[in-house]
Amino acid sequence: MREIVDKIMAYPYPLRFALWHKLRSKQRGFTRQHYYNCVVRAAAEAAALGHEGLTVVEFGVASGQGLLELERICSYVEKTAPVRFDVVGFDTGMGLPPPTDYRDTPWKWQEGWYDMDVGKLKRSLARAKLVLGPVAETVPRFLAEGLSSPMGAIMFDLDYFSSTTDAFGIFSQSRAEDRLPRIFCYFDDLGSIEDVGVPRAIADFNAAHEAKKVRQRMYWRDLRDPYALPWKIYEFHDFRHPDYMRPVRKQKQT
Ligand SMILES: C[S@@+](CC[C@H](N)C(=O)[O-])C[C@H]1O[C@@H](n2cnc3c(N)ncnc32)[C@H](O)[C@@H]1O
Repeated sequence: MREIVDKIMAYPYPLRFALWHKLRSKQRGFTRQHYYNCVVRAAAEAAALGHEGLTVVEFGVASGQGLLELERICSYVEKTAPVRFDVVGFDTGMGLPPPTDYRDTPWKWQEGWYDMDVGKLKRSLARAKLVLGPVAETVPRFLAEGLSSPMGAIMFDLDYFSSTTDAFGIFSQSRAEDRLPRIFCYFDDLGSIEDVGVPRAIADFNAAHEAKKVRQRMYWRDLRDPYALPWKIYEFHDFRHPDYMRPVRKQKQT
C-alpha cells in the first residue's frame, strides 16, 4: 500500500489527484472523503469523552446526495467505533431562497436552484431526520426540542452568507451539553473573498464571539490527501465548554 501511495504522489498534481481519488473511493466506496474524515474525527473525540451517541448534521441538502452519503458513512463507522449516530439534514425543501444582499454573492446563485423532491428523498433516506424550512426558523426550534446526542460534525453547504449566518445559531444558541467542545466542520462554498459569502459569515461570527471560534484546521499534515479537501475543513471551538480541557489522548506520549 505504501508503495502505491508513493508512486501516486510522484505524479504531477492533476494526475495525482485523479489517481488518488480513484484509489480512495475504491478503498472505502465513499465519494466524499471530506465528510468521512469529519465523522471519523468527531467519533474519536466523542468516544474519548465518554459519549455513546453523536449527532452529525448537513446544512443544505438539495436532492440529498450528501445526506445519503452521510448516512452510509455513519453506518460504516458504527461498525468499528463505539458510537451511534443521529443524522440530521436542514433545508428549505424548495431550493435556494432569494438572496438578501450583495454578501450572498447573487451573481453566483439564483432563487429556486437545488430544489428537492421531498417525497422521493424521504423514501430514499434510511435513518436521517430531515428538518424542512428556513434555517433561521428551524435551527432554534430544533435546539429547543433537545438533542439525544451532542453534535460533533457539521457539513455546511447553504451557499449564501445570510443562510450560513443563520445556521451558525447552531453554535451560538445551543447548550454546551448538546455539542462536543470542538466540532469538525466542512464548508463547501469558500470560493470567494473574505468580505462576502461564507468566508464573511465565518469572519463575522468570529468577530462577534470572544470564546467561540470557527477556524480553518491547520491542514499541512493532510495535504497528501487532496481528495479529502483539507483546506475546506474547519473546527468550531468553544473555549468555555466544560469539557474543553478534558484530555482526549489517553495514551502517554513518549
Ligand atoms: C448546494 S445545495 C446543497 C447540496 C447538497 N449538500 C449536496 O451535496 O448534494 C444548497 C442548499 O441549501 C439550501 N438552503 C440555502 N439557504 C437556506 C436557508 N436559509 N434555509 C434552509 N435551506 C437553505 C437550499 O435549499 C439548497 O438545497
